[in-house]
Amino acid sequence: MNKKTVILGVTGGIAAYKACEIVSRLIKLNINVQVVMTQSAQEFVRPLVFQSLTNQPVITDMFEKPSTWDIEHISLAQKADLFLIAPATANIIGKVANGIADDMLSTTIMATKAPVVFAPAMNTAMYQNKIVQKNISSLKELGYYFINPSEGRLACGDVGIGKLASVDTIVEEVLQILHSTKMDLKGKNLLITAGPTREPLDPVRYISNYSSGKMGYAIAEAAVKRGANVTLISGPTHLMPPKDCNVIHVTTTEEMYNKVLENFDTCDIVIKAAAPSDYRPKTVLPSKIKKYDHTLSIEFVSNPDILKELGMRKQHQILIGFAAESDRELEYGKEKLEKKNLDMICINNILKDKVGFGHDTNQIEILKKYGEQKTLPLMSKIELSHKILDEVLDLMKHP
Ligand SMILES: Cc1cc2nc3c(=O)[nH]c(=O)nc-3n(C[C@H](O)[C@H](O)[C@H](O)COP(=O)(O)O)c2cc1C
Repeated sequence: MNKKTVILGVTGGIAAYKACEIVSRLIKLNINVQVVMTQSAQEFVRPLVFQSLTNQPVITDMFEKPSTWDIEHISLAQKADLFLIAPATANIIGKVANGIADDMLSTTIMATKAPVVFAPAMNTAMYQNKIVQKNISSLKELGYYFINPSEGRLACGDVGIGKLASVDTIVEEVLQILHSTKMDLKGKNLLITAGPTREPLDPVRYISNYSSGKMGYAIAEAAVKRGANVTLISGPTHLMPPKDCNVIHVTTTEEMYNKVLENFDTCDIVIKAAAPSDYRPKTVLPSKIKKYDHTLSIEFVSNPDILKELGMRKQHQILIGFAAESDRELEYGKEKLEKKNLDMICINNILKDKVGFGHDTNQIEILKKYGEQKTLPLMSKIELSHKILDEVLDLMKHP
């Protein structure tokens, strides 16, 4: 896979030190990062820090000699897959909005055709200043991206809006924009399942599990951004489905099973991130179960095994499953991969910190049908979704 290049412009604000964390996160994601610093930014962080993190010279001066073609403003502008300015001062926003190109950063931004993303950080009054807001609006109208600052206690002591968005948010947004420009799933039909199912017991009760649906929704969002036609079959969740995706809401495993099979023939890729209930109560009582002083036994019957059925019916489709385990996860995951005729399985141990149900982050092992195994580090579910989709594309190229 071609390495992407992000040019990171660091400008002169207190939050400049947070750019170090952004650099290191992007590098861990196998992204090539080239840092350009303004004169003022160097008052806050020394270029040496970025040079050490990126293992590349940091560009600070347009007229520095000897200059190499590789780091001159035009070649840098051409090399960029994305331009990120974080933190972005009121000054750089104002300069770009008004066509000023008087240093290396502003000149390179002017010369690039890559998407440009600003992550502003400044004092609340500065951020709310009408000129700054007008500059932001006109840049947005011209297609520049903005990652809104958050509210909180600022370095100057004020409390309000103006704090640099979290590193997580910035990295996620960068990935979304980088991958959306890739469109490598254009024309592909993806079927994604997400969330829990609910198996009714009586008119007021049901059996379910802790699945939040976040993983499946994140994959759907990432796939839509990369140009896929996505059908998302979702159990009950509180999440907003991504725009431009065909959402089918279901409640029980049986309903999910029927909807998945209805849509299976026409899809190219199936990613089953849902946690359907394996069992359901044998009888659904027509009226509410009353409270008595004795124990209550409920008889369960098996639900249809959606993944197994797809594994049997599969023809041209790439089939990806998830295994949420609490122990011996690799062993159970491998067994599931083989038994259900999957092409790939994403295995997580739900007992690990910040992993699995309900979290915004996840950490998985990937196992492919011919034995290839990868351990991915803990990351946000949206970052992870892109990684999973990269692996799916790899499977399509080398089935
Ligand atoms: C201690 C200190 C902190 C500053 N923090 C910010 C900031 O967070 N945001 C901002 O827009 N400007 C901030 N400024 C002002 C900028 O450094 C100033 O506008 C400068 O001209 C920006 O230049 P640049 O955009 O080329 O980096 C700060 C200045 C000082 C002295």
